[in-house]
Amino acid sequence: MEFQYQQETEKLRNSWMKHKHKVLRNYLVEDIQDPRINVQSILCRHWLIEQLFGDKFAYLAEHELRYSLIMNWLNKLYKRNIRVNQLQAILFGLIEKQDNIDGIEIPPYVSHTFASLACPNYNYDLLNWAPSDTNDTAFPEYIITTFQRIWSEVLENEQSQKISVLEPACGSANDYRFLASFGMAKFLNYSGFDLCTKNITNAKHMFPDVFFNTGNVLEIQAEDKSFDYCFLHDLFEHFSIEAMELAVKEICRVTRKGICTSFFNMHDEKEHIIKTVHDYYWNRLSMSAMVNLFKQYFDRVKVIHIDSFLSSQFSCGDTQNKNAYTFIIS
Ligand SMILES: C[S@@+](CC[C@H](N)C(=O)[O-])C[C@H]1O[C@@H](n2cnc3c(N)ncnc32)[C@H](O)[C@@H]1O
Repeated sequence: MEFQYQQETEKLRNSWMKHKHKVLRNYLVEDIQDPRINVQSILCRHWLIEQLFGDKFAYLAEHELRYSLIMNWLNKLYKRNIRVNQLQAILFGLIEKQDNIDGIEIPPYVSHTFASLACPNYNYDLLNWAPSDTNDTAFPEYIITTFQRIWSEVLENEQSQKISVLEPACGSANDYRFLASFGMAKFLNYSGFDLCTKNITNAKHMFPDVFFNTGNVLEIQAEDKSFDYCFLHDLFEHFSIEAMELAVKEICRVTRKGICTSFFNMHDEKEHIIKTVHDYYWNRLSMSAMVNLFKQYFDRVKVIHIDSFLSSQFSCGDTQNKNAYTFIIS
């Protein structure tokens, strides 16, 4: 690897190794980043499901997205210190088909979802619980695992040939832990790597039998086209543009069929915006430049701008991150 990339790697490694094991294990899977309610993690799981089973589970996938929107909406209400009696009033309002309860507007994705389900449904659980303290808004297990339980049940008796999947920058098995708990891991020959050894120690501690290794996306230790699929979340923004282009080249070199990648900071402009934070980058990437880059290696890049997608599919007007994009590359 060239000297400039060795230097950049060293800075990245130090930046991530600064954190304690416990912080690394938890901080990217909490609150709105929890892969059970994070739309980009959900879309990535759906993409894997589609590679395995075609559109057989499209209906369930749609409802999982609806659930995540409701959960994110509730999360915001909790932070505004909503009480359980107000939530119960919302539940009665939904039954009565009202769209505003005591000044709280019910978003259309909540009322449409509620109306499309038989009663009672999981929304009854959701609207009968509120945190006792605004500092501790973590959902209880029976609520946050709603779709985890459904997926693991429906996938239990499914059969499929395994696909090989690579996840660069896997963190502390941040997304893998939910591939496991959703019953998807048994269909995958999964390999994850991360530059930060502490993350890999955490991941191996949780999943001693799964292939997790320390590795660098700028120099992937794998033969050309050795994986069917690759997915990765929230990495490309943290490199210099030259290193980011090398990372894309490496990922495309080792992947045979398709890639799903999430961006947390992208815009629909021609130029990348370069920004450094401490020892690494926090760039805003150009959507068209990234599409053109991937097109050097693959034929098709499907761009999902999360805000536009949720607005057109579910009339959702309150997406948290307007700069979030997911690419499906094939
Ligand atoms: C923002 S975190 C995202 C982690 C995980 N993908 C997620 O979405 O929760 C970025 C991750 O990239 C890892 N990383 C940074 N540079 C890397 C490199 N050159 N090769 C592999 N992993 C790297 C960091 O250690 C960190 O775990």
